[in-house]
Amino acid sequence: MMNPACRLAGIPRGESCRLETGPPVAVFRTEDGEVYAIDDTCTHQDASLPDGWLEGREVEYPLHASKFDLRTGAVDAPPARLPVRTHQVLLEDGTVYVALSDAPPNLPPCVAARLAGGVA
Ligand code: FES
Repeated sequence: MMNPACRLAGIPRGESCRLETGPPVAVFRTEDGEVYAIDDTCTHQDASLPDGWLEGREVEYPLHASKFDLRTGAVDAPPARLPVRTHQVLLEDGTVYVALSDAPPNLPPCVAARLAGGVA
């Protein structure tokens, strides 16, 4: 199912928007205008990846400097070890739609517990 995320014009190049799914998804627009969707939460600790910055097709988180490839979700720099989940993006009539992946997310344990209703 395609979820409307935001208007393309509402994401300046080099910025992102957030889709309030469970877990939330971050939609990034690169400086080249490409659009990618990945889980919002870093796989290392409970941190929102859009708080980092974009370098080409990578997002780097400022606290511990892990880097993720927006195309594949792969870790390009530690300390994160698990890839971040990616989602399919469709652009139609100026709107960004996201098809959520069926794959299980690689959430840090505290976030997974919180989403499951446990104590974080
Ligand atoms: S929280 Fe992302 S690298 Fe530590």
